[in-house]
Amino acid sequence: MSGKKKKVVLSGLRPTGPCHLGHLAGALRNWLKFQEEHTCFYSIVTWHALSSEYQNSKIIKNFIFEVGADWLSIGLDPQKSVIFNQAEVKEHAELHLLLSMIIPLPWLQRVPTLKEMQREIPDKDLNTYGFLGYPVLQTADILMYKANAVPVGEDQAYHLELAREITRRFNRLYGNVFPEPQTILTEVPKLAGTDGRKMSKSLGNSIFLKDPPEVIRQKISPMVTDTRRKRKTDSGEPKDCPVFTFHKAFVDKTKREELAQGCRTAGIGCLECKEVVINRLIELLAPFREKRSKYEKNPQLVWDILEEGNKKARRVAQQTMEEVRAAIGL
Ligand code: TRP
Ligand code: SF4
Repeated sequence: MSGKKKKVVLSGLRPTGPCHLGHLAGALRNWLKFQEEHTCFYSIVTWHALSSEYQNSKIIKNFIFEVGADWLSIGLDPQKSVIFNQAEVKEHAELHLLLSMIIPLPWLQRVPTLKEMQREIPDKDLNTYGFLGYPVLQTADILMYKANAVPVGEDQAYHLELAREITRRFNRLYGNVFPEPQTILTEVPKLAGTDGRKMSKSLGNSIFLKDPPEVIRQKISPMVTDTRRKRKTDSGEPKDCPVFTFHKAFVDKTKREELAQGCRTAGIGCLECKEVVINRLIELLAPFREKRSKYEKNPQLVWDILEEGNKKARRVAQQTMEEVRAAIGL
């Protein structure tokens, strides 16, 4: 995304929990950068949350607040970016419906995340019409603002490919209304969770941005490292260590390489190596927690900022929907 031309950037996050380190490394850092250079829309995608939490719908509202508070505290700036709640911009539902008319069913049935999620979360019945349409709603989010660039984590790559396919089909049928959205991936590798699997809210293995120092320490200290390092005298390989994914994302290169070397030569112990990343995270998140306490004391601040964003988003969305209806001939 270099070059002088301003792009429209859109991304979203489901309010199913507070933001964790994986969000920070995989997406939020990029979002912050883009808001300095581009026209950005960042959406709390409430209806996407409902597609998996419909049996548990009452939890969502508080998580809208939590995610909003996280975003504002990390530095997303309502003066620079449009920060809004998807469910408050009803145009998204209309575009979702209109897109659903033109999408062949097999395009959705072959989406790998559909089966993955159904497998990973067996306690939820995700065999629903709404869940099948998840990528359609995501496409509506993107097209609504004619976004050219969508910064997301790797796990969203397929959804974005599908979004481009849907865009081409719409444009072929009704005229060239939408630009094809490009996927922007970060170089940061997947962050491990505290159990060594991928960090994910649904797996309960996350370190949250709002976790206080003692919780960060409690979560990282007992983490399994490279299993070859049974004793301090056994050498290890950082590539095979879940904890080292944190080093990669948050510890500067010189220090990190020194630790990697120490690991390979059994020159340092895992406790010492963990201590570096624990302290780094505590230091990194301290100013964030400080800012966040303001919103915790006065949640209405977050709701008001979101409402301002909803208004701005609505204005663009209404304009787009007029074009869409005209293109279709409605
Ligand atoms: N599906 C995305 C996720 O789970 C969230 C999302 C919804 C999104 N709409 C979007 C991401 C539009 C980018 C653009 O992370
Ligand atoms: Fe992981 Fe560090 Fe232990 Fe190596 S020394 S196994 S990188 S925690």
